[in-house]
Amino acid sequence: MSLAHLKSLIRTIPDFPKAGIRFRDVSSLLVDAAGFAEAVERMASIAPQDIDLVAGIEARGFIFAGAIAGKIDAGVLMVRKGGKLPGPAMGRDYALEYGEDRLEIHDGQIPAGSRVLLVDDLIATGGTALTSCRLIEDAGAEVAGAVFLIDLPDLGGAQRLRDSGLDTHALLT
Ligand code: PRP
Ligand code: HPA
Repeated sequence: MSLAHLKSLIRTIPDFPKAGIRFRDVSSLLVDAAGFAEAVERMASIAPQDIDLVAGIEARGFIFAGAIAGKIDAGVLMVRKGGKLPGPAMGRDYALEYGEDRLEIHDGQIPAGSRVLLVDDLIATGGTALTSCRLIEDAGAEVAGAVFLIDLPDLGGAQRLRDSGLDTHALLT
């Protein structure tokens, strides 16, 4: 399947979550078996090698992280929004356009020396991904790279990640 066809499976919802935003909605890709399989295959193939753990960012990142981990024989680490994890957790607050949010990971779930791959459906400003990286590093692990299905390049997030030294890939822009 061509990248152009893959892209055509992602619908755009105007004015969500607020007026003027054109929301790239991956749910229309996820329900297409061939399209989802192609996206996962291609995301796994552009990821760095020798990954121990795939860190998926809540919520849509979980779907891609789980599927990619299955392909590369890695485990899955959930990067959750604040207050959702049942066990002792470590977290970081980060700024949103309006207000603040928090991301957390469970304590003690990244074995020493692990190479972690960060995965999400989309990178926009990069705040979510950068915060996730810092959190994984707080836990003493190395973020070996990041893979996104979609980069919104006008918002500069992927460039911010690259500028911070992270091996950053996106399938579609
Ligand atoms: C979206 C997307 C990324 C994040 C990217 O998640 O799935 O996680 O925004 O934005 P950024 O690069 O500007 O930080 P969203 O906030 O919609 O959360 P959800 O997956 O829980 O709906
Ligand atoms: N789609 C999904 N998540 C997002 C978007 C989008 O268009 N913009 C910022 N986060």
